[in-house]
Amino acid sequence: MNYSEKVMDHFINPRNVGEIKNADGIGEVGNAKCGDIMKMYLRIEDETITDCKFKTFGCGAAVATSSMATEMIKGRSIDDALKLTNSAVMEALDGLPPVKVHCSVLAEQAVKAALTDYYQKQGIDPEPIVGKVPEMEEE
Ligand code: FES
Repeated sequence: MNYSEKVMDHFINPRNVGEIKNADGIGEVGNAKCGDIMKMYLRIEDETITDCKFKTFGCGAAVATSSMATEMIKGRSIDDALKLTNSAVMEALDGLPPVKVHCSVLAEQAVKAALTDYYQKQGIDPEPIVGKVPEMEEE
């Protein structure tokens, strides 16, 4: 399988690994088929994601996509984070092999799951804003 240099870089030196104590939003998603799990922590101040960390128990592409996703939303507004798509993450990594596309979906979902948690903690119904985020992806 051919991985881009960027994928290898983010796999070997993942950015923002870890957890945030008392995070404002925590999301955990998994993929039923491969069993990989991603956990995303957000610190949100004034509608801005001031810090973002992740833990991924999964394949190299899952590590690389979650690392890239944290880089893409850190310092950005919630609105920007909501617009983050798995294709944007893949593009930023110079692509992924087709069998690894679902790994990037996991990264997008992890961000959305963390934002869902953030809104729930504020007593706001997240679904109209974030949409429905499945805890387990079937493919
Ligand atoms: Fe499932 Fe990568 S193989 S997340």
